[in-house]
Amino acid sequence: MYRTQASGLTELREARVIPLHVNRRRFIAITGAKGGIGKSTLSVNLAFTYARWRSRTIIVDGDVGMADLNLMLGVAPERSLADVAKGEPVEACVAESNGLYLLPGLNGSYALANADSAMQGRIMAAVGQLKENFETVLIDAPAGIERNAVELTAEADDIVAVVTPQPTSIADAYGCLKVLHQRWDVDHVFLLVNDVRSDAQGQETVEQMVALTSRFIPKLGVTPLPFVPHDSSLPHYAAQGLPAVLAAPDAPASRAIQKVARTLDLMAQGGAAEEGGA
Ligand SMILES: Nc1ncnc2c1ncn2[C@@H]1O[C@H](COP(=O)(O)OP(=O)(O)OP(=O)(O)O)[C@@H](O)[C@H]1O
Ligand SMILES: [Mg+2]
Repeated sequence: MYRTQASGLTELREARVIPLHVNRRRFIAITGAKGGIGKSTLSVNLAFTYARWRSRTIIVDGDVGMADLNLMLGVAPERSLADVAKGEPVEACVAESNGLYLLPGLNGSYALANADSAMQGRIMAAVGQLKENFETVLIDAPAGIERNAVELTAEADDIVAVVTPQPTSIADAYGCLKVLHQRWDVDHVFLLVNDVRSDAQGQETVEQMVALTSRFIPKLGVTPLPFVPHDSSLPHYAAQGLPAVLAAPDAPASRAIQKVARTLDLMAQGGAAEEGGA
């Protein structure tokens, strides 16, 4: 269904940029076991890109107990996943910012971060409901490989594993992929190298990841996405509660993220076509 390992990279670079048609429901999880590697930044900007392309899109703050998406989106929602976990209907807990919908987490919520199985069940059911009501559901998964974190990720149609060129990030991403494959039967991920100083550095990171996965988890398909460059404007926009793709669509990182969004869509359409879908 998907191109695997490094083989897709050259083809992706040469892929034509075609208009986007969002014509199927999709559920994307952005993951990566290490903290501070850009998962939330990429999630927010990808979600805004899909929302701008006329797909009804919601982003879920999977970092339920240490939520920060509301700050990055400049909203102060009254309700959150903590209310969903207590049994509130999910539609009462959805916020909106510039055309993008958000199911927020709750910062500093120990109960949510350590949700018991009943609470986790309600959260999973709520996400299932969102999938019925939005074309694109995107989860910003938390760092780490705890059960509750990984369970949401493993449900996604498309899993995007974020990694940076740092060796610790590569090691943690590998660990995360191993858990997803061995414990949760995930057989394919997209690899998104963030914060690269050059294409050569991005390429080298892909090669390091692919060397690890093809040796130790050979049945896991890995499809590299276009790299996202280091862009010093990103922390500035995040601090202002403004997604870079809205505030500065032509900034290097914004352009790269839009290319990632388009590539993910092309892949999804190719996959759907091969499966006989729309
Ligand atoms: N490509 C990039 N260039 C420059 N800075 C970046 C880039 N990507 C992310 N950052 C910055 O790195 C910092 C961490 O990013 P972010 O909060 O998105 O990471 P995270 O993986 O979600 O972290 P956590 O695991 O703590 O939730 C932020 O200040 C963000 O603006
Ligand atoms: Mg984050």
